[in-house]
Amino acid sequence: MKRVVVLTGAGISAESGLKTFRDAGGFWEGYSIEEVATPQAWHKNPELVLKFYNERRKQGIHAQPNAAHMALKELEKHTEVKIITQNIDNLHEKAGSKYITHLHGEIFKSRSTVDQRLVYDIQGWELKIGDLCEKGSQLRPHIVWFGEEVPLMETAINITLSADVFLIVGTSLLVYPAASLVEYVRPSVPIYVVDPNASAMNINRKNVHLYERTATEGVPEVIQKILQL
Ligand code: APR
Repeated sequence: MKRVVVLTGAGISAESGLKTFRDAGGFWEGYSIEEVATPQAWHKNPELVLKFYNERRKQGIHAQPNAAHMALKELEKHTEVKIITQNIDNLHEKAGSKYITHLHGEIFKSRSTVDQRLVYDIQGWELKIGDLCEKGSQLRPHIVWFGEEVPLMETAINITLSADVFLIVGTSLLVYPAASLVEYVRPSVPIYVVDPNASAMNINRKNVHLYERTATEGVPEVIQKILQL
C-alpha cells in the first residue's frame, strides 16, 4: 500500500470561503503580522490579538469542507493518507480525514500561557481576557505565531520521510520551517503540486508534477492519477 502524505496550505480552504494570506486582498484582513501574530503582539496588546482570532473564528465556524478536502477523505478508502496542514481551520476534520497534523496550531483551540500542555476546545467563537486555564492563567489562541518554534515539526518530518507519494495543495511554500518539509521527501518519491501558481514554486528536484488548477478541480484529478501508480 502506498502511503500518501499531503501538505496543505491556505489555498485548499479558499474555495470554502476562507481567504488565503498572501493573495490579493487576503493579507491578514488589514492587520500586519507584527500587530497580531507574534509573541510581542500578545505581550503588547492581547485584546487586539484575541479580537483578530475571534474574527477569524467567527468566519470559520460556518465554513464547510470543499471537494478537495472531501477527495482527500475519500482517498483513505484506497490507501493510507496522512495530512500535514499549515491551516488553522478545521476543514480537514469536518471532511472526516483521520490523520491530521496541524503544524501552525488550531484556531478552535486555546492554550494555557503557563503550561503549553494544557489545550482546550473553544466553545463558540470567542476567547476573552479573563478566560483562564485550570491553573488560573490567561488562555491564548492555540496558534504557532511568527518567531515561535513549531513543536510538531519533528513529527511532520517523520511523516514526510515515510511518504511513497507526496502531494502539495494550495501553499506558496514561502513560510519556514514548513516549506523545508519538501527537502525531506525521499528522492525516489513523486511530488504532485496542485496550485494555480504551481509553476512559481521553486521545487528543485526531479519527479515533480505540477497541476495549475484550483484545489477543487485539481485534487480529485491528481488523486485519479495517484490511484493508478
Ligand atoms: N486552490 C488551490 N490553491 C490556491 C487557491 C485555490 N482555489 N487559491 C489560492 N491558492 C494558492 C495560492 O496560489 C498560493 O500559492 O494558495 C497559496 C496560498 O499561499 P499563502 O497565502 O502564502 O498560504 P500558506 O502557504 O498556507 O501560508 C503559510 O504562512 O501566514 C502564515 O501561518 C500562516 O500557515 C500560514 C503560512
